[in-house]
Amino acid sequence: MKGVILHGGSGTRLKPLTYSGPKQLIPVGNKPVSEYVLEDLVVCGVTDVAIILGETYPELVRQYYGDGSKFGVKITYLLQGKPMGIAHAVGICKDFVGRDEFVVYLGDNLLQRGISEYVSEFRKAKYEAMVLLKEVDDPTRYGVAQFDGSKRLIRLIEKPKHPPSHDAVVGVYLLRSSIFDSISSLKPSWRGELEITDAIQGLIDRGLPVGYSRVEGWWFDTGKKDDILAVNALILDEKCGYELEAETVESKVEGRVQAKKGTKIINSTVRGPVAIAEDCIIQNSFVGPHTSIGRSSSVIDSNVEHCVLMEGVRIEGVERLEDSLVGKNSKVIQSGRKGHSLQLHVGDFSEVVL
Ligand code: G1P
Repeated sequence: MKGVILHGGSGTRLKPLTYSGPKQLIPVGNKPVSEYVLEDLVVCGVTDVAIILGETYPELVRQYYGDGSKFGVKITYLLQGKPMGIAHAVGICKDFVGRDEFVVYLGDNLLQRGISEYVSEFRKAKYEAMVLLKEVDDPTRYGVAQFDGSKRLIRLIEKPKHPPSHDAVVGVYLLRSSIFDSISSLKPSWRGELEITDAIQGLIDRGLPVGYSRVEGWWFDTGKKDDILAVNALILDEKCGYELEAETVESKVEGRVQAKKGTKIINSTVRGPVAIAEDCIIQNSFVGPHTSIGRSSSVIDSNVEHCVLMEGVRIEGVERLEDSLVGKNSKVIQSGRKGHSLQLHVGDFSEVVL
């Protein structure tokens, strides 16, 4: 089986962070979202992976993943350019896929339990395609499944105004080469995209077996700031262990705190789950649960909780910073006025002085 990770799209809902990098490289638990996707593919035994690049800083993706050897896979990069839809991106993979079965994984989707059990089911049942479904409150934002009386999947509708169910299509698609015929006859949807839901509908209409499975555990499509913060918290809850390589001076480090080499924690309290990368300084501060701090950042005279701070961030004199996502090399410095809770969404290379 081959793997395809979609790493394009414009990331409109995550601006300004996506002015300087693709949304799938935004870190949760100090690792890009798409790295969890790659790791999930590796767990499924997939070692031949294509990454489809978009127009937003594709070179950063190549730089991060390289030829894949660091991650135990072989990576082929394919350029989609303009975001013309998931089916368009899949169409680009035709030669890469050949006659193999393959899994398409949206690089901003995360599933708590991964996809290996669904991959096994797909192979066993010999479906032509298989989708994963998850019940959501607002199905109008997603592809949605419709069933007949005997619970057979009969329709997939992209972002319906009047959804026939609450079963949203998760951004993981198990496919065979038959999908390429379907894609070649697609017309752009109302939003100007070639929709994968329409391509799979083409298989259903041809009477080919299309299966589905309901996803257990959480699923996130990390398209917005609050999703990033929520996934960061869940990842830290589940994957962050106690791993203190940092130097601590007159500090309290409580619970599951991961603090890497070169980091100094001075006269501070850090209460896990918290992940602090290499070469950070935490001084005269409180770092509270569900916070990730990227390398070479500093938190000085501040209280920070439930935040994602990317690399090279400086937080100084901030009485209370929570529910915030701070982009690379940004500074948030509070001078003077005290007693306010701050809720920020700050892009790379920004400077906020309050
Ligand atoms: C895409 C798909 C949609 C699916 C969603 C899952 O939506 O078109 O069917 O439910 O991913 O994340 P988009 O991210 O393009 O809005």
